[in-house]
Amino acid sequence: MRKNTGLIVANTAKKDEFYTSYDDIKKELVNYAKYFKGKVIYCNCDDHYGIGKGTPKSNFIKYLADNFQAFGIKKVIATHYEAGKKSTMYILNKDNTGDGIICSEDIEEIPLKSDGDFRSAECIELLKQADIVITNPPFSLFREYVAQLMEYKKKFIIIGNQNAITYKEFFPLIKANKVWLGMTMDSSNRWFAVPDDYEQYHKIENGVKYAFVAGVVWFTNLPHSKRNEKLETGKTYHGFESMYPKYDNYDAIEVGTVRNMPMDYDGLMGVPISFLHKYNPEQFEILGLDDHRVEWRGRGPDLNGKALYRRIIIRKKQGA
Ligand SMILES: C[S@@+](CC[C@H](N)C(=O)[O-])C[C@H]1O[C@@H](n2cnc3c(N)ncnc32)[C@H](O)[C@@H]1O
Repeated sequence: MRKNTGLIVANTAKKDEFYTSYDDIKKELVNYAKYFKGKVIYCNCDDHYGIGKGTPKSNFIKYLADNFQAFGIKKVIATHYEAGKKSTMYILNKDNTGDGIICSEDIEEIPLKSDGDFRSAECIELLKQADIVITNPPFSLFREYVAQLMEYKKKFIIIGNQNAITYKEFFPLIKANKVWLGMTMDSSNRWFAVPDDYEQYHKIENGVKYAFVAGVVWFTNLPHSKRNEKLETGKTYHGFESMYPKYDNYDAIEVGTVRNMPMDYDGLMGVPISFLHKYNPEQFEILGLDDHRVEWRGRGPDLNGKALYRRIIIRKKQGA
């Protein structure tokens, strides 16, 4: 039940205001701390909500400010979109209060000339200065958002919906090992704070409304240790062939769940997109999506006359 309602919220609200929890951010970002040293980090969909005006809207800014010194970050820049208005930029790079600590209280507020759209010339100039981009971009602009990051060759850690994996524009990046899933959020469904005026929410805690959103994952192009872990399911193809039927239209076996992946099969396998949480590029090669032989099919492979849900076609690497 929850899963479906979460999806409905994300899809029908057509609003992009979902605020990531501090805990989710912390669990993921802590794994990349070594990459943050001496770096400029840009959060380009993040509003600090004004200094001293209560809880910051973006826990990304808060987490990076809290760990600014511990991680040795050089600068944090944050901008956000204000429809029809001039927006504000937030900068953290020095001890402005003079108390010997660099933290949230040292964030400077600087007016922007435009609305803070991540695609605006002003924000693109900030993007150029950045080494790493970290945020939860608007779901509705995900394709454009990623295209811009790739165009400017940025390192990033961002949140997206796992369905984005099947986007025509995005899947080739996954296949080419230019983008992969993050370390955490492999159970996918998460609580996000939503604005007071949202009517579709699932709980209120301490006066804050929360929506339960399904299928949320981290995407990154920074290395992390999970990507080196070898998958071992203990399952075999030989002796259990009937568990792994071949597709109607080409020579690949259907593996309905990752935990049933046969470790002794050298041919092509169709696996659910959740496989990417276990994907180690030293162990497996991604050949494509669905019928990998056609450039774009847009639906899963056929089994017994029916198209399945989307499948990634993979093969075990030789000797892996
Ligand atoms: C999914 S929310 C995430 C907010 C925040 N980064 C967080 O996780 O707490 C996406 C944010 O992007 C903002 N946004 C929408 N369109 C934008 C645009 N064109 N440029 C920059 N930000 C935009 C929304 O206002 C919203 O706050």
